[in-house]
Amino acid sequence: MNNNATQKELPIISQEELEEIKKALPKSSWGVNGRELLFYQGFWFSESMLARTLSFQRHFIARDSDLIITGLPKTGTTWLKSLLHMIVNREISPVTQNGLLKNHPHELVYTLEGDIYGEAFAYPQPQHLDELPSPRLLSTHLPYAPLPESIRTSNCRLLYTCRNPFDALTSLFHFVTAMVEKSNVGEPPRFEDIFESFCQGKTPNGPFFEHVLTYWKMSLEQPDKVLFLKYEDLKDDPVSHLKRVAEFVGMPFTLFEESEGVIDQIIEFCSFGNIKELEVNKTGDLKTFFEKKSFFRKGEVGDWKNHFTPAMTEKMTELMEEKLRGTGLSFKLIP
Ligand code: A3P
Repeated sequence: MNNNATQKELPIISQEELEEIKKALPKSSWGVNGRELLFYQGFWFSESMLARTLSFQRHFIARDSDLIITGLPKTGTTWLKSLLHMIVNREISPVTQNGLLKNHPHELVYTLEGDIYGEAFAYPQPQHLDELPSPRLLSTHLPYAPLPESIRTSNCRLLYTCRNPFDALTSLFHFVTAMVEKSNVGEPPRFEDIFESFCQGKTPNGPFFEHVLTYWKMSLEQPDKVLFLKYEDLKDDPVSHLKRVAEFVGMPFTLFEESEGVIDQIIEFCSFGNIKELEVNKTGDLKTFFEKKSFFRKGEVGDWKNHFTPAMTEKMTELMEEKLRGTGLSFKLIP
């Protein structure tokens, strides 16, 4: 891969072309004020995300040194962004002066189709990507197959985060509710509607299990390319998983750093209790539709128990067993 390649110009696709593409795609609502999702390359996208995804697919050029966080929304991407930022920048900015003291994690690690290839002009435009020093820390919610070709074929590395579907769904419900309330448009969603859509695979970037399983498979086939992380594992044993991440990105902790407590300091700084309380994460918005604080809600394993009825638990358990059978993948559901 040519590391000097620059982003292609004109990243935003025209409205006419978008309309043509949309006409041919299956559509479905998903329990949020009748909002529509479109089925593109085997996955569901909102209309605005489809446009951004098309631009991202066509124009992004990966560098071999890129480190790209991937994962479905609400599976721990904000946490992983914080940890990765701290690992990569630990020499130039120690914990006491690190960038997360003044920036929300999403302002330090851009979500490519959300922040860069869209019309959210508060954010840098695609050309800005060329100016970022290596390694660039980036992220995407895209499933594996629709990723831009250069991500799949270059030597860039992907860090995939996933979470048990019960908690991922619960977190999604709260996040969407907060978004609807902030926009003041329409009624907040009902948990049972989002639950049904989720079980049918119809949530943004879903189906959930297909998204997870393609990355799971890639992580087994190409462990140097894809690191597969689970939210519950990070909660249980942050030290060993932080070390895994640091090794995967080629920046392992030295014995000296370990003895100086650097790993513990990073974990503590990025812990839910600490990062949620930073002033920068408590007030203000990200773009116009998210409140910064909405990315930090409860930060627990097992909150789904407060939302699922027994019938929902049975249905999701069956679905999970069916989808994961024979894959070697399993999830922890309670702390
Ligand atoms: P809950 O809604 O269950 O609290 P994402 O970052 O992918 O959008 O995922 C958001 C979820 O991760 C939310 O889950 C949020 O509270 C949780 N989260 C954010 N930062 C975290 C941290 N530092 N440690 C643990 N969980 C965190």
